[in-house]
Amino acid sequence: MPYYNSMFQLIRQLIFKLSPENAHHFTMGFLQFLTHIPGAFWLIRAFSGISNKGQTPIHLAGLTFPNPIGLAAGFDKDAKYLKVWKALGFGHVEIGTVTPLPQSGNPTPRLFRLPMDMALINRMGFNNEGAQAVVNRLKKRPEGLIVGGNIGKNKVTPNEEAALDYEKCFRALYSYVDYFCINVSSPNTPGLRDLQSIKELELIVNPILRVREELYKTAQRTVPICVKFAPDLTHEQLLEIIQFVNETSLDGIVLTNTTISREGLKTPTDIVSSIGPGGLSGMPLSKHSTEVLAKAKEMLHPSKFAIGVGGIYHGNDALAKKQAGANLVQIYSGFVYKGPALIGSVMKFWAKG
Ligand code: FNR
Repeated sequence: MPYYNSMFQLIRQLIFKLSPENAHHFTMGFLQFLTHIPGAFWLIRAFSGISNKGQTPIHLAGLTFPNPIGLAAGFDKDAKYLKVWKALGFGHVEIGTVTPLPQSGNPTPRLFRLPMDMALINRMGFNNEGAQAVVNRLKKRPEGLIVGGNIGKNKVTPNEEAALDYEKCFRALYSYVDYFCINVSSPNTPGLRDLQSIKELELIVNPILRVREELYKTAQRTVPICVKFAPDLTHEQLLEIIQFVNETSLDGIVLTNTTISREGLKTPTDIVSSIGPGGLSGMPLSKHSTEVLAKAKEMLHPSKFAIGVGGIYHGNDALAKKQAGANLVQIYSGFVYKGPALIGSVMKFWAKG
């Protein structure tokens, strides 16, 4: 294991010489290639301590998750690498954010590393190939991996018409995903986070709940729906939102998305300012994100589930989220900095906790 860790650090140093977005594409291309080499993922799992042994499957809203760990939204926006995630041992993956039409997102550079803080800042802006391309890929999705569809609106769609964008994605993906996550909390689509107000939430969520009932009649299969919120809500906003979730037939919440705060960073202020706007993720988000989860979970009806995401770098961080009430956890930035060994660490601590 120590040799493996040093080897991973060396590989990470080399990959980090590339720009963050190129590093992402290079790594994913390489992992995709490894899916064709028999035994390659067996070796990665063995060295990373990833094993479903001792894991109790988690039953939530009619779904059975083989283990508690998932890949957070944004990493595999277009559902291109589902075989890789399954081979690495993830129990679930949240694809997206998917929008009805393809869009290229914000101009590059739009993804930045803050190695001193083990953090990332991104303003990707929902770059994705659009709902239809994702559906075509999902038709060939591997068995045994829970896939969530994280849905949003196109940048050109004004907020007054946002509900229709969410509904279009919901209808398109309904037969191909296991659960939905309504994303109203990314800071990189202008005005999107305003959709977290109750008035706006009602306009988006209620039609989707009605469409779910309508589709159930023909599909005879229902799909759980949760909503993903920002960590930057006030206590009153959070209270209102959780009350809203409790009063509807929504199934759960995902907490949290990235933050617009830049507080408490070790990276010099001039470097942080030169990066510009975007959502901060990773270690600096960990404590606050878990606190928001704990507050929300206290108010959340026990029949609803909570997925904890934000700053998981070690099994201990996942355990803290479990103790705050998370039924499942997801990782993004921690996976960039720590690699597959983080999956093993989360599994080990979750099973013990
Ligand atoms: C994200 N995240 C994100 N969330 C979402 O709901 N839809 C998205 O499209 C994206 N895109 C995205 C891109 C990049 C580059 C990053 C770093 C993050 C947010 C992500 O799912 C997660 O909520 C946060 O990153 C917090 O978790 P970590 O990174 O601290 O583990």
